[in-house]
Amino acid sequence: MSEWSIRRCERRDVSELLAIEVAQFPEPWTKGMLLDEISNTETRRYTVAVERGRIVGYLGVMFVLDELHVNTIGTLPGEEGRGIASSLLDEALEDAKTRAITRATLEVATSNERAQQLYYRYGFKPVGVRKNYYERSHEDALVLWAQLRDENEGA
Ligand SMILES: CC(C)(COP(=O)(O)OP(=O)(O)OC[C@H]1O[C@@H](n2cnc3c(N)ncnc32)[C@H](O)[C@@H]1OP(=O)(O)O)[C@@H](O)C(=O)NCCC(=O)NCCS
Repeated sequence: MSEWSIRRCERRDVSELLAIEVAQFPEPWTKGMLLDEISNTETRRYTVAVERGRIVGYLGVMFVLDELHVNTIGTLPGEEGRGIASSLLDEALEDAKTRAITRATLEVATSNERAQQLYYRYGFKPVGVRKNYYERSHEDALVLWAQLRDENEGA
């Protein structure tokens, strides 16, 4: 049984998100970028996993027409492998069923095998490569897509 619960992210969560971001990403977003993302509730949906009052993971998705884009996902260092990222994805994909979302996409660094394993489990498949996607490292990104449901199914 998971010991964390998932709720919508709020602006007051930004410091904890920033700490995970800085620890987990070679090219972390800034506080300002995170605040912009969290605050843009029209097209973004940010959620956090909270365990005993502490944020142990977060997920940010963006909606573009009938597509869900995974903008970011991170688990607190030391808490990986417990299913936190999976539960955040499960919750977001469940929510996507209530919207007219049919497909999901994301970019992931070619070297980030751990994240790729996670996404492949959700039915994401590589469809292409964006060359020099990451500004500092110039690493390529794989572009992954998942078909969530048939375009003709109702919301
Ligand atoms: C990728 C990331 C979000 C996964 O979070 P997590 O909470 O550990 O994920 P889960 O526990 O739900 O595990 C999902 C899968 O990830 C992989 N995984 C998780 N921990 C792992 C570990 N320690 N070693 C290898 N693979 C691991 C496994 O495939 C796992 O599947 P399993 O259920 O068969 O073990 C986390 O490692 C992270 O924050 N990484 C840095 C940020 C990042 O790369 N984000 C993605 C950018 S595209």
